[in-house]
Parts: sequence; C-alpha cells; structure tokens
Amino acid sequence: MGMLDGEHAIVTGGASGIGRATARRMVEEGATVAVIDVDAAEELTAEQGILSFVADVRDPEACTRAITDAADALGGLTVLFNNAGVGAAMPLHKYSDAEWSRLLDVNLAGTFHGIRAAVPLMREQGGSIVNHASVSGVRPTRFEGPYSAAKAGVISLTMDAALEYAPKIRVNCVSPGLVETKLTAVVLGDPGLRAKIEEATPLGRIGTPDDVANLVVFLASPLASYITGQSVVIDGGSVLPNPQADAILQWFVQPH
Ligand SMILES: NC(=O)c1ccc[n+]([C@@H]2O[C@H](COP(=O)([O-])OP(=O)(O)OC[C@H]3O[C@@H](n4cnc5c(N)ncnc54)[C@H](O)[C@@H]3O)[C@@H](O)[C@H]2O)c1
Repeated sequence: MGMLDGEHAIVTGGASGIGRATARRMVEEGATVAVIDVDAAEELTAEQGILSFVADVRDPEACTRAITDAADALGGLTVLFNNAGVGAAMPLHKYSDAEWSRLLDVNLAGTFHGIRAAVPLMREQGGSIVNHASVSGVRPTRFEGPYSAAKAGVISLTMDAALEYAPKIRVNCVSPGLVETKLTAVVLGDPGLRAKIEEATPLGRIGTPDDVANLVVFLASPLASYITGQSVVIDGGSVLPNPQADAILQWFVQPH
C-alpha cells in the first residue's frame, strides 16, 4: 500500500531537481501525477507515465489552463506541489528591475497562481497543497534579498491559505537548506567550497532532492492529516549554529 494511493497530484517545476524527484516518489507511493514546467518532462512520461504540461507559472492564464487540463487528464486533483522556482545571488543594490520581477514572479506570484487555480478543483472533495519556500524565507540569506523576500511571502501565503481553506484543504510548505540540483550546481561544483559547506552542516552532508521529496510526500499524505499552515525546515541542522553564542560558550566551557 502506498502513502498516496488514489491521489491525483500536480507538481509545478517538475521537469528537474526536487520537483522531478517528488513526482517520481509520488508515483512510487501510488499517485497519478502530472508535471507543469517551462520544459517538457519527456523522460518522466517515458519512464513512469507521468503527464507533462508545458506552461510558465508566471503567466496567470497559462498556469490556470495547465492546472485545469492536468486535473482533467488525471481525473481530479487532490495534491498540488507549487515547486517551480528560480534563484539569484548578488548585492541588493545590484539587482535590476527585471531580475527583481523574475524572482518575485516565479517564486511568489507563481505560487499564488497555483493556489488560485487549484482551490476550486479541490474544494469539494478536499486535498493538500504543499508550497516550496526555503530557509532563506525563514530568515534572509545575505545576497539573496529578492529570493528571500519572495520565499518569506510563500510562507505567509501558506499560513493564510491554510486558514482560509481549512478544514477541506491542508496547506503547508517545505523550507529546505542547500539541496544538490541544477540551481546549486555552480556552488557545489567547487570541491573546496563543497567540503566547507559539509563541515558547516551538523548532519555532515548536502541535502538531496529525495530528502525533500520524502517530506513533500509525507505532508501530502494522510499521515499529515492534522498538520496545516506549517513551514517545515529541512536543512541537516544548518541554520542551528549560532557563531556569536558559540564563541561566548566556548569561552565558558574551556579552561582559560
Ligand atoms: N536547491 C536548493 O538548494 C533549494 C533550496 C531551497 C529551496 N529550493 C526551491 O526548490 C524549488 C525547486 O528548485 P530546484 O533546486 O529543484 O531547481 P531546478 O532548477 O532543478 O528546478 C526548478 C524547475 O522549475 C522550472 N521552472 C523555472 N521557472 C519556471 C516557470 N516560470 N514556470 C514553470 N516552471 C519553471 C525549471 O524549468 C525547473 O524544471 C524552487 O522553488 C527553489 O527555490 C531549492
């Protein structure tokens, strides 16, 4: 028996990375799945029969049409993972208007477009929405100002939607730290930097797309039936260290 037996799920941004891993895990757990992405997900269709729809989540009409068409093709909609996202890093005063808009539109407006299209399709029989935030939305990451603001917005939108659509629809979000995908390849490709990041992570390794996929499947499943409005951090403990307190407490515990 699978955790998502009988569920009909849509994953936005499902052609790559965490979205692709989640679409795959959802099928393994018994769901029928469609992905919506700017890129076609032919490989997922060939391997697991996952349906692929091409749309840009920034475009309200295209996003609504893709979600409606995907739900029709699946025979209903009970799970939505609003996962499509893009990132960037630079000093705040260097961001152009175009880059600001891209980051806010994909990460935050895209999530809103997904919720707005899915709610009427889920409202009668109920369902679960999982949004993709980030530890950068829980507290900002230096040089990721617009991304962090967008992801903080995703966490806020998650709590609002949880209140508005309870008890029929549960709405939660996942907030990962660094996960190895196309988005982070440029950083993780540097062996020296990679080793430093691993050392700074209490669990001693970089997150994988499957780590996050497992959490999304859990939140979407009946095992999480009393959880709504939450942002669940999944980061190997990386936001816990507190350099200021560590310096002080080292002084107390070491002989001096
Ligand atoms: N990788 C990490 O370290 C990390 C950490 C925290 C949060 N996240 C979040 O995870 C999500 C997935 O990112 P990933 O790391 O798997 O990256 P990824 O680049 O591998 O996947 C992102 C997917 O979203 C699609 N996409 C981008 N813009 C789109 C648009 N406008 N419309 C439709 N699809 C679009 C891309 O084509 C791609 O398939 C994002 O929301 C990201 O912010 C990632």
